[in-house]
Amino acid sequence: MKMTDNTILITGGTSGIGRGLAEAFHALGNKVIIAGRRQDRLDAITADNPGMRGLSLDVCDVDVVSALAARLAEEEPALNVLINNAGISRQEKLTPGDASLGITRDIVETNIMSVVHATAAFLPLIKTKANATVITTGSGLAFVPRNNFPTYCASKAFLHSWVQSLRVQLLREGIEVLELVPPYVQSELAGAHQLTDPHAMPLHAFIAEVMENLGKGDTPEGEILVERVKGHRYADRNGEYTKHFANFNGGVTP
Ligand SMILES: NC(=O)c1ccc[n+]([C@@H]2O[C@H](COP(=O)([O-])OP(=O)(O)OC[C@H]3O[C@@H](n4cnc5c(N)ncnc54)[C@H](OP(=O)(O)O)[C@@H]3O)[C@@H](O)[C@H]2O)c1
Repeated sequence: MKMTDNTILITGGTSGIGRGLAEAFHALGNKVIIAGRRQDRLDAITADNPGMRGLSLDVCDVDVVSALAARLAEEEPALNVLINNAGISRQEKLTPGDASLGITRDIVETNIMSVVHATAAFLPLIKTKANATVITTGSGLAFVPRNNFPTYCASKAFLHSWVQSLRVQLLREGIEVLELVPPYVQSELAGAHQLTDPHAMPLHAFIAEVMENLGKGDTPEGEILVERVKGHRYADRNGEYTKHFANFNGGVTP
């Protein structure tokens, strides 16, 4: 994708990977609009990054997302990049009597339905631009699941498949479709402990590698892959799926 002179909307821009991407693109001189539910975070991040815009948004509210697309068509007519990054992760038990449909529904609504809807809502605006791009944040867990995050892993597997179909359908429209595939990264995704978990990739290193790959156009098969995620991304191709699955699942093999 083009790295400068974009107008970029990033959902889930109030922390972690979304904030990191927002600040990296802002530093390159792009017009960046971050969206999320936490107004205090929006205020703090935009204060730290003059020129960046913050918008309060619950991506699960279909009417609000549609209204935002109409509003930005007026206020930010140059918008040419949508980054579907908002997401949640929750542990779930599927053992008899333990399942929580509420958690499952929240993940499906946030990680799947909101991406499908935001993409539909914003495509009419971005399709008219040169260098239109849609980036969706998936996960290495799409490729090797952890049993304690069943719906989360499945939601990212959904996105991986859906993004491939989207890419083919938007080919003739000249819209680039990319999938960002993070490994385990230091963020608040699974709770505050993840911010300092030494097993997680430091956020700044992840963002730096992502920006370097994007800048070089190093996006094989439309995927943005840092070195650390390639073992999981290519586990099946490399005949290492069973090994990685067992590592994630207490030695149990598929
Ligand atoms: N960190 C990892 O290890 C990892 C690995 C693979 C993939 N990912 C993916 O990376 C993306 C970003 O996660 P992160 O690691 O940066 O975690 P994070 O710091 O918890 O960020 C999640 C972001 O999503 C936003 N969000 C959640 N629900 C929302 C809603 N209903 N409406 C609007 N915004 C919402 C949050 O903003 P508000 O709370 O302000 O609304 C926040 O900005 C997610 O899609 C996640 O699945 C992360």
